[in-house]
Amino acid sequence: NGKVKIGLMGLGTVGTGVVRLVESFQEDLFKQTGSSLEISRILIKNPDKKRSIYVHPDKLTTNPDDLIYDDEIEVVIEVMGGIEPARTYILEAFENGKHVVTANKDLLAAHGDELLRKAAEKGCDLFYEASVAGGIPILKTVVEGFSSDRITQIMGIVNGTTNYILTKMTQEGLPFEQVLREAQELGYAEPDPTSDVEGLDAARKMAILATLGFHVGMKWDDVACKGISEVTQEDIRYGKQLGYTMKLIGIAKRDDDCVEVSVEPTFVANSHPIANVNDVFNAVYVYGEAVGETMFYGPGAGELPTATAVLSDLVTVVKNSKLGINGREMAFPYHEKRLKSPEQ
Ligand code: HSE
Repeated sequence: NGKVKIGLMGLGTVGTGVVRLVESFQEDLFKQTGSSLEISRILIKNPDKKRSIYVHPDKLTTNPDDLIYDDEIEVVIEVMGGIEPARTYILEAFENGKHVVTANKDLLAAHGDELLRKAAEKGCDLFYEASVAGGIPILKTVVEGFSSDRITQIMGIVNGTTNYILTKMTQEGLPFEQVLREAQELGYAEPDPTSDVEGLDAARKMAILATLGFHVGMKWDDVACKGISEVTQEDIRYGKQLGYTMKLIGIAKRDDDCVEVSVEPTFVANSHPIANVNDVFNAVYVYGEAVGETMFYGPGAGELPTATAVLSDLVTVVKNSKLGINGREMAFPYHEKRLKSPEQ
């Protein structure tokens, strides 16, 4: 089936991981898709930036039109992050008939409905596995694996940075600021780590999970959210004495027509497995009416884990478009918005 050309927008932590994996897994990707995948153009901000990988200079551009209006490019991978200009670029990519894979939770949790409508109108795919819980294939699991069940609750740790911070504060008594810097150096934190620390990143991910799990349109500001900036060593020590560990926990649950989503620092009993989910790891519990309790665990951030999620979407897109198999509907059901607060 030949070659599939891909335009990559962003060459930060995740983008670098994508370039590495497309290269090192070339053969396996070919076996799965029947196509050789080539990243033919990469949109960057700063041509002078020192990079940890070598990319041929001809591939790099600072002009988004070089990707969006290149007729040979079939798939655009957006890993720049942020709402604008990512939103505009993705909408333009759909206008030009390109499929899109993105890791952009900020964008999905604010404009997912608009993007999915445009994708549908243009007959394009939009996939976003990497937007939630890094290397855990949780969106595919919720959408496909639980299509035969009725999800009643989704609960978990969905932010790697804050889990890393809380782990180091708990186990090593290290100060908040120092551990945050470490998380930034390891490439876990958002460019503005306030999103991580104040729980917004987790709120965005919980909104996406709730939307897909409960078939209602949820946006990030539907989530009651509190971060970890006010958590002190004293709180953590006090919990420890009583047999509890502090974690930033997201919960999305439904009762009949009512969906509630929250993110907040929570004392978890040490006997609960989630109390032992440490460092950058995430864990998501999905409760189905029929199946009962299930747990998914893995690295929630970082270059290669997040890149695997991007790549798995890329494989799906190429299979859909070249082989016509493995179709997968991940449309945000915003048309069914029936969000009510419990009091109503
Ligand atoms: N800043 C995010 C986190 C990156 O720490 O979880 C992965 O989405």
